[in-house]
Amino acid sequence: MNFETLCVLGMGYIGLPTASTFATHGLKVVGVDVNQRVVDVLRNGEVHIQEPGLRTLAQAAFRSGNLRVSERPEPADAFIITVPTPLVGEDGKRADLSYVISATESIVPHLRTGSLVVLESTCPPRTTVDVVAPILARSGLQPGTHFHLAYSPERVLPGQILRELIENARVIGGVDRASAEAGRDLYALFVRGDILLTDATTAEMVKLMENTYRDVNIAIANEFARLAERFGVDVWRAIELANRHPRVSVLRPGPGVGGHCISVDPWFLVEAAPDLSTLIQQARQVNDDQPTHAMNLVRRALGDLAGRRVAALGLAYKPDVDDLRQSPALEVARLLAQAGAQVRCYEPYRREAAPAGAEASPSLEHALEGAEAVVLLVDHKVFRELDPEHVAGIMPGRVAVDLRGAWNREAWQTTGFALHVLGAGQSRG
Ligand SMILES: NC(=O)c1ccc[n+]([C@@H]2O[C@H](COP(=O)([O-])OP(=O)(O)OC[C@H]3O[C@@H](n4cnc5c(N)ncnc54)[C@H](O)[C@@H]3O)[C@@H](O)[C@H]2O)c1
Repeated sequence: MNFETLCVLGMGYIGLPTASTFATHGLKVVGVDVNQRVVDVLRNGEVHIQEPGLRTLAQAAFRSGNLRVSERPEPADAFIITVPTPLVGEDGKRADLSYVISATESIVPHLRTGSLVVLESTCPPRTTVDVVAPILARSGLQPGTHFHLAYSPERVLPGQILRELIENARVIGGVDRASAEAGRDLYALFVRGDILLTDATTAEMVKLMENTYRDVNIAIANEFARLAERFGVDVWRAIELANRHPRVSVLRPGPGVGGHCISVDPWFLVEAAPDLSTLIQQARQVNDDQPTHAMNLVRRALGDLAGRRVAALGLAYKPDVDDLRQSPALEVARLLAQAGAQVRCYEPYRREAAPAGAEASPSLEHALEGAEAVVLLVDHKVFRELDPEHVAGIMPGRVAVDLRGAWNREAWQTTGFALHVLGAGQSRG
């Protein structure tokens, strides 16, 4: 199938790179967003998202005349939906499909015979066939008969989106074979990884399985860390040794799981089938409890927390990004402050950030001044490479807590620090 025009709904972390890449590969693309600020920023040739290389790519796309932005969709050969699917509800564990629904509704007047619609937003299983298809059918055209409809999950890693968009294998699930093939013809314009065709619900499951698998794997690593602490075993060494088994690959423990994917997507399966997802729910529980476990480790290291000065290093949900969404580091800092500690947080990518009750430090030195303990919450490169001598020259205390297994133990200990490492039980011989 040949495509000349494309309409991408949602100009966020996924939509803008996708629209820009299609535009620089020759398609006439309209990027749609309902947020007027986003549209205005892009119309001014600026970019509202921090992602390496994106500004250059988007500006090239605008300059070529192939990319425009708009507040509303227009008729096109293909439509891609990349709108948010956050969690909502009193317990914050239900998928909010309202953005997907309104984006789908906005396409209806523009659907034509032979069009292709692709949903990329991460969604609960059967969203494409049970939610999106009936809305599009209001046009009078039937998916699979008059137009093509597919689901294609996005698997890019923030920080490497532009490269991974092109190089990653892409799964495309159609409501029928012709829809999957139409999707393949569209993405083949730039995807160099394998393009794997399946049905729409399988493609939705694939995305959720990938992130749930990682969540469960991290949960078991966290549980191993707790067990290791009890049994006087160093979990980091134990995992390293276990992973020498040719069919074992345990991930790393830490203060919990965050971000907008791995800690969110498993709930889409739980919501869809609570009776069939006990392991997934348990894993979520283990990972959600881990910030409390981490806070207790600091409590054990310091004794009482009330009034104690703590330097908290890093608040992002993972190393070397500025994203604080669902960050367990943020939660550990909040719990420390709630327990009465005087917490100074230093997040080099977001110097103004601190949870309720804690103070944001503009510099590492400010956070360390007067500190009785320093806690490594996120293993940003700058923190991994931190010189304990430099730290000892600033803070009066000699307690260090490493929640990421990132610091060189010998270096910290020979500098005079009592170093406490998550998952490193005291060996009892
Ligand atoms: N960001 C990632 O790394 C990543 C990775 C894989 C999958 N995903 C999934 O991709 C989807 C999009 O994520 P994102 O990070 O790009 O979100 P985002 O919040 O960065 O961007 C979404 C954009 O959609 C716009 N929008 C909302 N409703 C709209 C509508 N009806 N029409 C047009 N625009 C609308 C919003 O204003 C926003 O600018 C989510 O389902 C997410 O789970 C994201």
